Amino acid sequence: MKIQFTKSAPAHARTLVFLIGPDGSLSARAAALDAKSGRFVRRILETHEKFSGKHGQTLVRTLPESAGAVHIVFAGTGPADKLTGCSAEILGGKILAALEGAGLREACVQVEGACGPFSAAQMAVRLAAGARLQDYRFDKYKTKPVAKASSSKSSGASCPKPEPDIRVESLTFVLPEAAQAEALWRLADVAVDGTLYVRDLVNEPPNRLYPEAFAQKVQRDLEPLGVRVTVYDEKKLKSMGHRAHLAVGLGSDHPPRLVVLEWRGTGKTAGRKSSKGARPVAFVGKGLTFDAGGLNLKPTGGIEDMKLDMAGAATVAALFMVLARRKSPVHAIGILGLAENMISGHSYRPSDIIETLSGKTVEIGNTDAEGRVVLSDCLTYVQQQFAPHTVIDLATLTGAMMVALGNEYCGTFVNDDGLWGALEGAGRESGEKIWRMPLDEAWKKEDEGTISDLVNIGAGRPNAGACTAAAFLEHFIEDGTLWAHMDIAGVAWVKAARPNQSKGGTGYGVRLLDRLVAQHFEKG
Ligand code: BES
Ligand code: MN
Ligand code: ZN
Repeated sequence: MKIQFTKSAPAHARTLVFLIGPDGSLSARAAALDAKSGRFVRRILETHEKFSGKHGQTLVRTLPESAGAVHIVFAGTGPADKLTGCSAEILGGKILAALEGAGLREACVQVEGACGPFSAAQMAVRLAAGARLQDYRFDKYKTKPVAKASSSKSSGASCPKPEPDIRVESLTFVLPEAAQAEALWRLADVAVDGTLYVRDLVNEPPNRLYPEAFAQKVQRDLEPLGVRVTVYDEKKLKSMGHRAHLAVGLGSDHPPRLVVLEWRGTGKTAGRKSSKGARPVAFVGKGLTFDAGGLNLKPTGGIEDMKLDMAGAATVAALFMVLARRKSPVHAIGILGLAENMISGHSYRPSDIIETLSGKTVEIGNTDAEGRVVLSDCLTYVQQQFAPHTVIDLATLTGAMMVALGNEYCGTFVNDDGLWGALEGAGRESGEKIWRMPLDEAWKKEDEGTISDLVNIGAGRPNAGACTAAAFLEHFIEDGTLWAHMDIAGVAWVKAARPNQSKGGTGYGVRLLDRLVAQHFEKG
């Protein structure tokens, strides 16, 4: 889909989209169209029973010939002061769905002034981002084109009949500050690309995306952008002492991989010693390309979606794509801990005791609590090799987190109030909801073993399952390292389509982390 920003609508524009609030007042351009069309625009609004300018409502109508343009689309903003980044993006998605439902391939969206908290440029960019997120579909394995299951039905009775494969090809946002919008869009567009890259990776089936394939894809996609990509195979990992990571992959015919990404900012501050010294910020992602549970096999009802278990690693990879494409002046390390948790005669067992890279021993209480086992080595490795000032890990770690916060909020455990504030602020800006969860010595204690240093399932199970999992990871965080653990089990995936989100991978977190880096890790 082509997205553009211009100062005035092209003369040949056939479809015009207008934002309308609950007061129903027409913008200058809508009023001009009304005059030209013999009060047609006002009459639609006055006589329509349902359309009231409520947030997300849309209405498509064909215009009389005198109007010039052929179709008009009204999009309800709701009360402008209630608009948030998230709701503005949802409105963009609704506009796209209305156009698609009416079989319209292109449209001009009129953004004539500030809208609640947003300048016209910010509003246009939010609408554009929402439209792109809504437009996403994962159809590469469909051998015949199909219509997208759409939640919003077009109310335009007089509009062309929807064709199954009609897609919106071009959206032009018309606003006085087109140049400003263009500049904002360059950043937002890249971040949306990152989000959709994660969706694609998460939706890819596990017979096609296994650890080697994942590592290869990331290498192919990121190296040309200037990201340094190093892939460690199982032999190398053995010699490096990543026994915990390797143990999880023993039951699979697809051996584990560790991928290390390094981005050295190319901007003005690149190479300059910041107040934090030359230490980088690090992102660590859980990358289980499939989690069958291992010998503690997952039951039917629990196993089906477990290709999602690499969402953390996908998010880290996408973040580096975004940082590189926008040439972020940051020094960042990314770690992807890739493995497949399967069942076979080679699988690791409950009661096995494994010596992790850190030297700490872990008794396996449950082979399905594998994410923390992989991450233990990844966290140790990144701290030993790169001495990051801050480590942020992303992991679809626990079903318990899903029980606690569902698909709405990402539960996040942070050992520093400043880092929490930064994450919360970034989430507010990106529209991705985040909620702080507690770390506690009591849960760290629950993870201590009797015949080993640690156990991979806490003694209090199943209570506080997300918290004991976080506490397990905390055992591998060195004193003085700022650390956040984002348990994305609930937010990485949705079982049914939602606004701007088709069923499957969501791409949660890329835009949040991009904002976090931009706001906190780029200045000296
Ligand atoms: N990958 C799962 C967690 C998960 C569950 C993510 C549902 C997304 C949706 C993780 O490896 C797991 O199996 N965790 C177990 C831990 C338990 C055995 C202590 C869980 O949550 O049941
Ligand atoms: Mn598991
Ligand atoms: Zn898992």
